[in-house]
Amino acid sequence: MENGHAKYRVAVIGSGNWGSVASRLIASNTAKLPSFYDEVRMWVFEEILPTGKKLSESINEENENCKYLPGIKLGANVIADPDLESAVKDANMLVFVTPHQFVEGICKKLVGKLRPGAEAISLIKGMEVKMEGPCMISKLIADTLGINCCVLMGANIANEIAVEMFSEATIGYRKDKEVANRWANLFTTPYFLVSVAEDIEGVELCGTLKNIVAIAAGLVDGLDMGNNTKAAIMRIGLREMRAFSKLLFPSVRDNTFFESCGVADLITTCRMYLHCNQLTIKQINTEK
Ligand SMILES: NC(=O)c1ccc[n+]([C@@H]2O[C@H](COP(=O)([O-])OP(=O)(O)OC[C@H]3O[C@@H](n4cnc5c(N)ncnc54)[C@H](O)[C@@H]3O)[C@@H](O)[C@H]2O)c1
Repeated sequence: MENGHAKYRVAVIGSGNWGSVASRLIASNTAKLPSFYDEVRMWVFEEILPTGKKLSESINEENENCKYLPGIKLGANVIADPDLESAVKDANMLVFVTPHQFVEGICKKLVGKLRPGAEAISLIKGMEVKMEGPCMISKLIADTLGINCCVLMGANIANEIAVEMFSEATIGYRKDKEVANRWANLFTTPYFLVSVAEDIEGVELCGTLKNIVAIAAGLVDGLDMGNNTKAAIMRIGLREMRAFSKLLFPSVRDNTFFESCGVADLITTCRMYLHCNQLTIKQINTEK
């Protein structure tokens, strides 16, 4: 508490491409906003660089993640920490941004190690499929750690946000709008516009299911089937995303699919596949 007002401390769990960009975005706000402590601790899964140096040491010396976000300064208030427990111990706002397959193991290590009242948000796209059925990543975090967990999804190619090109994002929350607004404050900048939606499952499923549609869109590109077919794949795909989401969670709202997490992320991801395809085709032609 400071002057009778709660003050929040942020830790970012993950330091890949999106983790580094998210830390930079957050740190630019914590340095300015009085309701947050300046410092942002970023947990780094330790790696040894080809130079023999540890990645976490290199980040702290250069203020740059030379492996996952080269050429971009993160902000002097971003501190890389390879010790998971130490990275989170003082934080009451936890940002999860690792590839989905590592989340369960990370959460198990964090049980009993968090500050009371800590809140989480997941920027992770994907889901766990267990014997009992699909399990959303936010639920995995919430259930394992016994904390509330929102999600942030959207048309968010990290490298574009790193150079401050304009993007939108959607925060999905359950019930507590005040908490969702606090996350929105933490992430919003003039080039990163965040809205909130009371539909956590809908927002998170959008970020997961769009990848399946984008694979189909990539096949259309690869087979040179044309723009009209690709648009049809995207339209029908979006409709199927909605139908599948509602089958899993009847509470999912139609409007969610018109937010950044829905149609916008689908378009961006399908365009990205086009770009990757063009690169592959160029590579094949060069190798011929
Ligand atoms: N990159 C993007 O543009 C983008 C945009 C939106 C959402 N996302 C989502 O963000 C999440 C993280 O993606 P990213 O692009 O930051 O990752 P990335 O592929 O750039 O990096 C992978 C990260 O995983 C770490 N790692 C490797 N082995 C590990 C282990 N055993 N345990 C824990 N961590 C380990 C690596 O050190 C690295 O930090 C993903 O769920 C992705 O879907 C990414």
